[in-house]
Amino acid sequence: VDPATRLYPPEYEGHLGSLLISHEEIDSRVQELAQCIHEDYKGTRPVMLCTLKGACPFYQHLLDALQDLKQGYTMEFLRASSYVGAATSGNVTLLGSELNKEDLENRHVILVEDIVDTGTTLANLLPLLQKFELKSLEVCTMLEKRLGDDKTPAAKAKYAGFSIPNKFVLGFGLDYNELYRDLKDIWVISQAGIDFDAKSLV
Ligand code: XMP
Ligand code: MG
Repeated sequence: VDPATRLYPPEYEGHLGSLLISHEEIDSRVQELAQCIHEDYKGTRPVMLCTLKGACPFYQHLLDALQDLKQGYTMEFLRASSYVGAATSGNVTLLGSELNKEDLENRHVILVEDIVDTGTTLANLLPLLQKFELKSLEVCTMLEKRLGDDKTPAAKAKYAGFSIPNKFVLGFGLDYNELYRDLKDIWVISQAGIDFDAKSLV
């Protein structure tokens, strides 16, 4: 795909280093993931649990694909925090969680994530969710990072859209200082993007 054909707000000019995954590639992979989920959950109504904010665009596309397959589901959202700037900290907390025991207890839950990097967030989040006495818990992530040979992730997703190099990526929900979530495609940030003052945009 030619990066020059991509659509993005003009204020991002120069911030996008290289195109990693196009919107079209995301779309077709989402169809495949929905098919896998449908095969595994046919006859049940999984709770599709979206991690805000990053997974939101992926979640929306995934639910749309499940609808086309006539796969029923219920919707829940959580907000977890562990990331400061571009480095993961080990502490995961559920922020202002709307999760209620009666919505989750004895249910099949699919946690929908934007990206699994070191897996630290997942490894900390999954036990918090298990406390709701779920029937089952699996993870569907849009991206997973390939760590070096010497590193193994702290947790892995059952369903993963794309395995990507160990670089900081943005777009399609993924942000850097709250910018770039509004991109249709997934990009690697440029140095100018890293250096840019996000507060200069209103
Ligand atoms: P861990 O290392 O705990 O990280 O698996 C998961 C969380 O870190 C964020 N993250 C990223 N966000 N571009 C982003 O915009 C990235 O390349 C990236 N890598 C990790 C993300 O919030 C994820 O849930
Ligand atoms: Mg996240």
